[in-house]
Amino acid sequence: MKKTIKDVELKNKVVLMRVDFNVPMKDGVITDSNRIIQALPTIKYALEQDAKVVLLSHLGRVKEEADLKKNTLAPVAKKLAELLGQDVKFVPATRGELVEEAVKAMQPKDIVMLENTRYEDLDGKKESKNDPELGKYWASLGEVFVNDAFGTAHRAAASNVGIASNIETTVAGFLMEKEIKFIGGAVDDPVHPFVAILGGAKVSDKISVIESLITKADKVLICGAMAYTFYKSLGYEVGTSKCEDDFVEFAKGLLEKANGKIVLPLDTVVAKEFSEDADSEVVESSKIPSDKMGLDIGPKTLELFKKQLEGAKTVVWNGPAGVFEFDKFAKGTNGICKLLAELKGAVTIIGGGDSAAAAIKLGYEDKFTHISTGGGASLEYLEGKVLPGIDCIDDKCTCGHCH
Ligand code: 3PG
Repeated sequence: MKKTIKDVELKNKVVLMRVDFNVPMKDGVITDSNRIIQALPTIKYALEQDAKVVLLSHLGRVKEEADLKKNTLAPVAKKLAELLGQDVKFVPATRGELVEEAVKAMQPKDIVMLENTRYEDLDGKKESKNDPELGKYWASLGEVFVNDAFGTAHRAAASNVGIASNIETTVAGFLMEKEIKFIGGAVDDPVHPFVAILGGAKVSDKISVIESLITKADKVLICGAMAYTFYKSLGYEVGTSKCEDDFVEFAKGLLEKANGKIVLPLDTVVAKEFSEDADSEVVESSKIPSDKMGLDIGPKTLELFKKQLEGAKTVVWNGPAGVFEFDKFAKGTNGICKLLAELKGAVTIIGGGDSAAAAIKLGYEDKFTHISTGGGASLEYLEGKVLPGIDCIDDKCTCGHCH
């Protein structure tokens, strides 16, 4: 068990808080604020405890000068201030006098947000490579470190692992705690029957997660373009569908290893072109015409998935069922979303990325037990890996005397 923000005294303390505000932006405007919204409970709690909150986050990747302006956190600070209804002092620097003066001037309940931690990557990838001096410097600014950045937990950076190794106390924020409870819980100790639904384009992206989940789940339902590589391994015609020829043998091996646990779609929506208004038809998955490509799962597959989900107590879903960006081929993804939203008596977890975006777009965000804020992090966590950003949080004492 990890220590959480509730396990430490925050009053009048400078609390360094790593959040993942790596939000999608278009022309300097945030297009999805979910990650900011999900971090609010931890920030609000720290403020209620009279802490001085110093926020750190990365945004995008910084490889050259031109990336600096594009990836400034200034609009994020503005959005946060709006959501909190209070001032957020944005410091356009990651270290130095500006930063130190701003922290020194803080009063309890103040918030300071530093500039994008990856500005430090311009000079030798200091943030991303966890430069020891940088972690030490950031740690020197505060007294307690709260890591609430689950989305970044698969990276060992100066702003998570680096700070944690140079400060006395590192605890999880509420979002991190929730991610550990639900995703970690599903991997380590799921209540059975446990059904995993895995979609997305490539088997190669999901190899480790499928390998891990066939040992833990009772069923693994496969959808998305990934299914076509599996079909090919069964000798089916896949037409012009996306298919990873290099992974056909691997897919075959997985089917054998899974011993019936892997369930493939029964029918497929196909079209000649990859386009929003292409003429489409539903065909049996084993009979995709040679001049057509699969773009979604069909209605019989949704029925099949519904049956497989009956009585499930834990469900994890990662990856869309089809090209959900096109309304015409979003029925499978939306259908899975609906099936899970209506499933009674199960813990339902969406493992981040596109499937989380689809659920939120459909207005189902309150219908799931947990929608992860992690993309890569939730996948690696589902693979059963130890994530450095979680590992660096202090463990709760189990002596029986401590709180
Ligand atoms: C994410 O969006 O998955 C995290 O914020 C990590 O971002 P990164 O892939 O740029 O490290």
